[in-house]
This record gives sequence, C-alpha cells and structure tokens, in this order.
Amino acid sequence: MDTPFISFRQVVKRFAALTVVDHLDLDIARGEFIALLGPSGSGKTTLLMMLAGFEQPTSGTIAVDGRRVDGLPPHKRDMGVVFQNYALFPHMSVRDNIAFPLKMRNTPKSEIATRVARVLDMVKLSAMAERKPAQLSGGQQQRVALARALVFEPQVVLMDEPLGALDKKLREQMQLDIRDLHRRLGLTIVFVTHDQDEALTMSDRIAVFNHGRIEQIGPPREIYAWPRSPFVAEFIGETNLLACKVDAQAGEAMHLITDSGLALLAHAGAGRIAGDKVRVSIRPEAIRINDHAAATANRLTARIIDAVYFGDHMRLVATVGAQRMIIKGDRMSGAAEVGSEVALSFAASDVWVVGSCNDQPSASA
Ligand SMILES: Nc1ncnc2c1ncn2[C@@H]1O[C@H](COP(=O)(O)OP(=O)(O)OP(=O)(O)O)[C@@H](O)[C@H]1O
Ligand SMILES: [Mg+2]
Repeated sequence: MDTPFISFRQVVKRFAALTVVDHLDLDIARGEFIALLGPSGSGKTTLLMMLAGFEQPTSGTIAVDGRRVDGLPPHKRDMGVVFQNYALFPHMSVRDNIAFPLKMRNTPKSEIATRVARVLDMVKLSAMAERKPAQLSGGQQQRVALARALVFEPQVVLMDEPLGALDKKLREQMQLDIRDLHRRLGLTIVFVTHDQDEALTMSDRIAVFNHGRIEQIGPPREIYAWPRSPFVAEFIGETNLLACKVDAQAGEAMHLITDSGLALLAHAGAGRIAGDKVRVSIRPEAIRINDHAAATANRLTARIIDAVYFGDHMRLVATVGAQRMIIKGDRMSGAAEVGSEVALSFAASDVWVVGSCNDQPSASA
C-alpha cells in the first residue's frame, strides 16, 4: 500500500483489567472497502468506536490522511457512522433525521434541503420523507440510517453490523446497494460483520479478528484459500481440520499421516520437515464423491453417515475409519445414501497446512 489513508499503530484498548484491543496495527487505503470479521467480543466494535471518536485508545495512535485523530471529537472527524440498531431519533421525521448532521454542522437551510433530497433519492425513500421511524420497516429504517451517514458527504463511512437485523432477501439487496454506493461515491468503508459470506462478497480486504488482534488480513480469496491458522480456516467457511505428522517431503507435495492413521498427499508446507506435527484444512467442496475419472492424489474409502439436501448442494458427513469428514457435494451426490460406501478424492493442493499442532488451539474448539 502506498501512503495509508487510515492507520492504527500499536493501538491498545483496556477496560479495567480487560485488554479488548491488543497492540493492533492496521492500514486502510483511500477508497478501500475493508471488512472487520470475527467472533463476538473480539474487539471489532471497540476498534470502530475508537476510529469514530466515541472511545479513546489506552495507548497507540490513529491517523487519518497523515494527521492524528485520537483526541478529536467525533464531529471533527468527517466520518459517517451506521450502528447496528439504527439509532434514529424516534420523534423526528425521516427528513429531519437525515438533516440532523447538517444542522449540527451549521449548513445553510437551502443547502440542507437539496442535500437531503439527493440522499433520499439515493436510498429510494423520497416518498417516505415525512414518516416517523416507527412507521417504517426494518430495511427502510436501515436506509434512513445509511442516508444520515452519507448526507454530509464524509470520506469515510463506518458501519457496525448494519444489516444484522434484516431478513436474508433484504440483506442481500442492501449489500448490493452499499457496494454500489461505495463504488459510485469513492467512499472508504470500514464494515464490521460476523457474517463470513457478507465479508467475502462485499469487501476488498478482510481483517479476521481474534481476541483483540488481527489474526490474518487479505483479499477474500486469499483468506478463504490460504488461511494461516486453524482459527481462520474454521471461521471463514466450513472446513475439515486434521491433525497430522509429516512423513516425507516430495517436491511440490508432502506425505502426511493423520492422527487417525490415514496417508495423505498435501500441498508442501514451507519449512516443514519429517516428524513435524501439523494441522491441515480440507474444504468440504474440494472433496469429490465416486469420481472415478479424476486423477487425484488422495483417494479414501468412506461410509456416509449423514446426508442433508440443501437445494443447490448436498451436505454429507462421512467416516473414514475414525476420521469424520464433511463433504459439500453437488446435487447428484444424492446417490450417496446414508450407510453406503463411497470413494472420496481430492487434490494434494486442497490439503492445506494451517499451522503446527502446538499452535494455540482455535477459539471455537
Ligand atoms: N464500555 C465497556 N466497558 C467494559 N467492557 C467493554 C466495554 N465495551 C466493550 N467491552 C468488552 O470488550 C470486549 C470487546 O467488545 P466489542 O464490542 O468490541 O466486541 P465485538 O467484536 O464488537 O463483538 P460483537 O460481535 O458481539 O459485537 C467484550 O468483552 C466487551 O464485553
Ligand atoms: Mg460489536
């Protein structure tokens, strides 16, 4: 990244004895859409509140456009904020809710009217400008909150699980709308979510939080395909995590023996030597069922113990000896009935080393 637009340096936040954000470094580029993803309590909201100015760091610095902002009050930071619970003023109309940040900034009356009309149009709520929040659906209230965060044309918009309260359809529509606004207005967006699909589909980069630290940061594809720890592998998507011992390196690949006694050929883990204990991740969709044509490095005989129909795919659970495996099969794998014996196959490159066995156990374990 050239000069970062927003930068956190060694930021710590403590509440009494509890360290909630732990020596965190993070750079965000201008115009970037970054998702903060992580389990409940991992410090996502706290980080956002420090950037917005509602909380102060215990130590460390936060800079925007080369200037330190820690110490500046929220309204001096030029950031629009959308909270999870909308936080609209119940006694004010939609129009007055949206005009509020402009009044706070002493914007002339005529300009307020023009700008409010423009954002109302943008979020498709012009027809509802005189209603009170209680007379709107959840999705409409969410759009008012979004309009209020955008009306003063901030460079940065911070969103804390803005779509959490919406049903699936509306949520997906709003995801598209927000992405569209991001592109059209060139906004820098910091978006907190604990929905992995939302993070994967919306953002330029994902920062995976765990206990107040960023466990991994990168573009969605990278985070999904090359998780650097068991925690990240399990948090982004479903996966099979297997504890193994390295048997031998074989050029681009390496031979592993799982703790349950299976021999696997894996993607070569850099710097691993025979005898090392490692954990590998095999994604459920990387495993093929009864695909006898495929020339894959790994082929195991398994028994199906559970099969659930999902419309567009089948989720199967199989056992290979003592090892349990989850498989995401296509609709045709419906032929793999519970109790039947099947052949599982997957490539060496789909057996991805995510860490050593003596690494910290994952938080969800
Ligand atoms: N004002 C506060 N006083 C004391 N503890 C706090 C305060 N605010 C947050 N915490 C604690 O800090 C930790 C991190 O909270 P935070 O709200 O940042 O988590 P989060 O990642 O946003 O979680 P969620 O996904 O549930 O929203 C939690 O353990 C929380 O209880
Ligand atoms: Mg939160």
